Amino acid sequence: MSSNKIRKAVFPVAGLGTRFLPATKANPKEMLTIVDKPLIQYAAEEAIAAGIEELIFVTSSSKRAIEDHFDKNFEMETELERKGKTKLLEMVRNVVPKGISCIYVRQAEALGLGHAVLCARSVVGNEPFAVILADDLIDGGDNPCMAQMVKTFEYNRCSVLGVEQVPEEETDKYGIVQSDEVTKGLGRVSSIIEKPKPEDAPTNLAVVGRYILTPRIFDLLETIPKGAGGEIQLTDAIARLLKEEQVLAYQFEGKRFDCGSKQGYLRATVEYALKHPDLSEEFREYLIKRCGENGSNIEPLFKRA
Ligand code: G1P
Repeated sequence: MSSNKIRKAVFPVAGLGTRFLPATKANPKEMLTIVDKPLIQYAAEEAIAAGIEELIFVTSSSKRAIEDHFDKNFEMETELERKGKTKLLEMVRNVVPKGISCIYVRQAEALGLGHAVLCARSVVGNEPFAVILADDLIDGGDNPCMAQMVKTFEYNRCSVLGVEQVPEEETDKYGIVQSDEVTKGLGRVSSIIEKPKPEDAPTNLAVVGRYILTPRIFDLLETIPKGAGGEIQLTDAIARLLKEEQVLAYQFEGKRFDCGSKQGYLRATVEYALKHPDLSEEFREYLIKRCGENGSNIEPLFKRA
C-alpha cells in the first residue's frame, strides 16, 4: 500500500433507486434534495471535509444529472454575475471547490455494490480509499463521519467500516458485523454477512454506507462469486479481506438518515430544515403551530372527503 493518506472517494451512484419510485423514474435518487442540496452534494462535502481531493463517481446512463451538478454551469454563472448576485454565484461555484477533481466511471450493468467499487479500480490504483453511499446521509455536526473514519484509519492503517446499531428486525437490510472491542466504539471485525434474516443475524451492528478500504479489496472483488440477490457484494469481499488483514468497525458519532427510504428522507428534511441558518426559525415556529400541544394536532391539513 503506497499511501497513508485517503485522497480518493468512490461514490457508487449507478443504482436504480426503486424504493423511491416514482420520484426516481427519471431522476437519480442521489439528486433527491434535502432542503436545498442534493444527497450527492452532502456526500461530496463529507468527503472533502475529510481531506479527500478526488471524487470518483461510478455512474450509469440514467445518471447524467449528477455530472451536470458537479460541472460548471456557464449560463447560470454569467446570469448571476450580471445581476450582481455574488452570494449565489459563490455558492454555485463552490459546489466543487478549488483543488477538487471529479472523475466519472461507467458501470454498464447493475451487478451490485462490489462490482461498482471494482469499476473504480483503475482510477483508485494501489492506495487506500473511501466509499460513500449517498443515500445514507450522516449528520456528524462539526465532525463529519468520514473525517472521523479517516482519523481512525491514519492511526490504525487498516480498513475501517462505519457501523451503527439498528433495530433487530432490520438486519436484513444491511451488512452485519461481529466484532471484538478494541476501545469504546471501535472493534476488530471477526465476521461480516450481507443482509441476514433477524433470526440468523449474529448482532445488530450494521455497516451504513461508509467504508475505508485497502486496495487489496480489488483483488478479492475480482474473484468472489455472486452473493445475496445474485450480485457481487462488497460485504463478501470484506469477509475475505478480514482473513488476511485487520478490519475495524467504527461506531461513528452522528445521526444517520436512510434517505433511500421515504421515511428516512422525510425525517432528514425536517432535521436539516431545523438546522438551516436561513430557514430554521420560521420553520420551527411553523412546526410548533402545526403540531399543537404535545403533537396532538397532527392530522393532514386538508383531506378530501
Ligand atoms: C448496501 C450494502 C450493505 C450496507 C448498506 C448500507 O446495501 O450492500 O452491506 O449495509 O448498503 O446502506 P443496499 O442498501 O445497497 O441494499
